Amino acid sequence: MRPDISSAIAAVEIASLTKRFGTATAVDALSFTAESGRVTGFLGPNGAGKSTTLRALLGLVRPTSGTATFDGRTYEQLEEPASRVGVVLEDTAFHPGRTGRDHLRVLAAAGGHPDARVDEMLVLVGLADDGGRRVKGYSLGMRQRLAIAAALLGDPSVLILDEPANGLDPPGIRWLRDLVRGQAKEGRAVLVSSHLLAEVAQVVDDVVVIAGGRLRARGTLAEVLGHEGGGAAVRSPDSDRLASLLTAQGAKISRTGPDELLVGGMPAARVGEVAAAERLVLHALGDRSRSLEDAFLELTGEPAAPPPGGPSA
Ligand SMILES: Nc1ncnc2c1ncn2[C@@H]1O[C@H](COP(=O)(O)OP(=O)(O)OP(=O)(O)O)[C@@H](O)[C@H]1O
Ligand SMILES: [Mg+2]
Repeated sequence: MRPDISSAIAAVEIASLTKRFGTATAVDALSFTAESGRVTGFLGPNGAGKSTTLRALLGLVRPTSGTATFDGRTYEQLEEPASRVGVVLEDTAFHPGRTGRDHLRVLAAAGGHPDARVDEMLVLVGLADDGGRRVKGYSLGMRQRLAIAAALLGDPSVLILDEPANGLDPPGIRWLRDLVRGQAKEGRAVLVSSHLLAEVAQVVDDVVVIAGGRLRARGTLAEVLGHEGGGAAVRSPDSDRLASLLTAQGAKISRTGPDELLVGGMPAARVGEVAAAERLVLHALGDRSRSLEDAFLELTGEPAAPPPGGPSA
């Protein structure tokens, strides 16, 4: 029986989840949710604890404390987990001698899904012409597509993808984006992890950013990464005076070189006006919007790179 996606409350809830391996804490009192009909990006650098969190959600690692549930139930408590939750983990293993189609057939039989789903899924993931080939001859990207086909076999209401873009080429990444969007549009909760913000920035509705196992930020992409807004970069031989003038006007100044300033919260036009009013010489001036990637790096604890090649960058 297929779940009624439209009425199912398919939210994922991670509540005060902690996972220690020996003395190392991989996940530290982490809480967040993923909602139906939305794509939630689960972001963090390598080793942040993303896979461990997803594995705890799927009952593959036992939490030290806290819970990870689907609509209040653990994975083990779900009545039809294969139809409820579709999963692509990092290390999906396939029987190399089996064809892609046979691989899906075995899973369909095990999960009680109609055999016709197999060919539908091969078409959906762009493997219609390769279903008869042995998986050992598949490229990394083809294996990834096959794993996604397997995850979708049971028409799940929650889709969990751990670093799904690994191995995909640019057209593959675009295809994945469209697929992820489409799955959320049909009402599924899609939780997709990545260590690369750029890979998911275009499709996520909500983001959860973690580093060192801890929550760093959560909210919509704009809420999380849009916070300090734009600013300006300026170079002046009189940078000390300029800095104090701009500070007096409410800007946040950081020095990026002997005569270079990064001006937070003030556009270049206003910086130019302040400088002109005091007849200060400027050697360069430009707007500098904080890129999503800068914001992500700041959030995850690594310092933002100075502007390449001077303040106009
Ligand atoms: N089975 C395990 N035994 C011991 N330590 C583990 C185990 N699994 C994960 N860890 C540790 O937990 C931390 C988080 O790892 P995890 O795989 O969850 O990170 P991740 O965010 O998925 O990283 P990546 O982006 O590299 O996939 C790491 O320090 C890792 O070494
Ligand atoms: Mg991982």
